[in-house]
Amino acid sequence: MTSRRDFIATASLAATGFALAPLAACSQERPQGQAPVPREKPTGAIADVAPAGGALLMRAIPSTGERIAAIGVGTSGSYEVPLDSPEFAALKDVLKVFFEGGGSVIDTSPNYSNAEDVVGALLADGGWRERCFLATKLAADSRAALEAQWADSLRRLRTDRVELLQVHNLRNMGEAMPYARELKAQGVAKYIGITHYLESGHADTVRLMRAEKPDFVQINYSVNAPQAAQTVFPVAQELGIAVMVNRAFDDGKLFAATRGKDLPGWAAEVGVTSWAQMFLKFVLSHPAVTVVIPATGKPERQADNLKGGTGPLLDEAQKAELAAMFA
Ligand SMILES: NC(=O)c1ccc[n+]([C@@H]2O[C@H](COP(=O)([O-])OP(=O)(O)OC[C@H]3O[C@@H](n4cnc5c(N)ncnc54)[C@H](OP(=O)(O)O)[C@@H]3O)[C@@H](O)[C@H]2O)c1
Repeated sequence: MTSRRDFIATASLAATGFALAPLAACSQERPQGQAPVPREKPTGAIADVAPAGGALLMRAIPSTGERIAAIGVGTSGSYEVPLDSPEFAALKDVLKVFFEGGGSVIDTSPNYSNAEDVVGALLADGGWRERCFLATKLAADSRAALEAQWADSLRRLRTDRVELLQVHNLRNMGEAMPYARELKAQGVAKYIGITHYLESGHADTVRLMRAEKPDFVQINYSVNAPQAAQTVFPVAQELGIAVMVNRAFDDGKLFAATRGKDLPGWAAEVGVTSWAQMFLKFVLSHPAVTVVIPATGKPERQADNLKGGTGPLLDEAQKAELAAMFA
């Protein structure tokens, strides 16, 4: 990372003439090699993407004070595409919108089929590696497998270090966490963390936050799954652990739940013009949250998601109204 991470981004999304991503795909905890489920096809052109306007919210990582843009990018599904495909070409535009809009955090994993290869190629082609706060994961069941996986991640990501290395879904913590600490001591992983994505994992996540005191915890939090505000977030605030939020859209399911629902009457007061922006603003309105990582393969949606990190945050009554709408 360069001083770019301290840049208070003014999103200027001059995103004209971009080709459309024909298709993205999704996966979650899918075994390697298994085909991703196709995602919805895009419907519009990006030429009319509205500028995000305004400064992108920045939040500090408690363990160092380093500031990062609060809207990041996830890569599960949306970045699991062939390297020579139209979907890959669309992702170049997605990342152009993202970095030019002031974003920096990209979260990936060796468990997301070829997503690390795709991220590595996109960062190299776009010349964006130095602007990027790159996060990947450890997910293997022996020391030898962890070492081989890490070497492979660096090769696939076309880099010699990452900003954040996380133990994926608390897997093999007994070996993975000490290894992550070694890599941090060597200076090849700047921060270390742990991840989960289900309410059923919150109790173990909290126990391991207390035991391990990682720099980051990554957890699910959304209008229809707000439990982390009671479980993980207070402990993160108490211990000074940065919070990365996954599944802010409940893996896209929230958009089906918005059909027939108008935005609340107060949406314009908080600068919100879409449900995606509202869901992201809900997440960022909790003070424990450092960064949220929505995944998309579509440039116009990337612009929409960035806009969720601009303008006023929500108050408690607004958050409660949203949670009640999607309970
Ligand atoms: N255990 C873990 O460590 C763990 C678990 C889960 C997730 N994660 C991380 O968190 C990231 C985010 O989670 P997620 O990918 O599960 O789900 P998500 O971000 O909640 O939702 C992604 C879905 O929302 C759609 N979408 C994105 N932006 C949109 C917009 N503006 N308007 C309408 N639809 C939009 C995407 O479709 P399109 O691509 O078609 O736009 C995709 O179907 C992952 O990619 C991964 O990096 C980590």
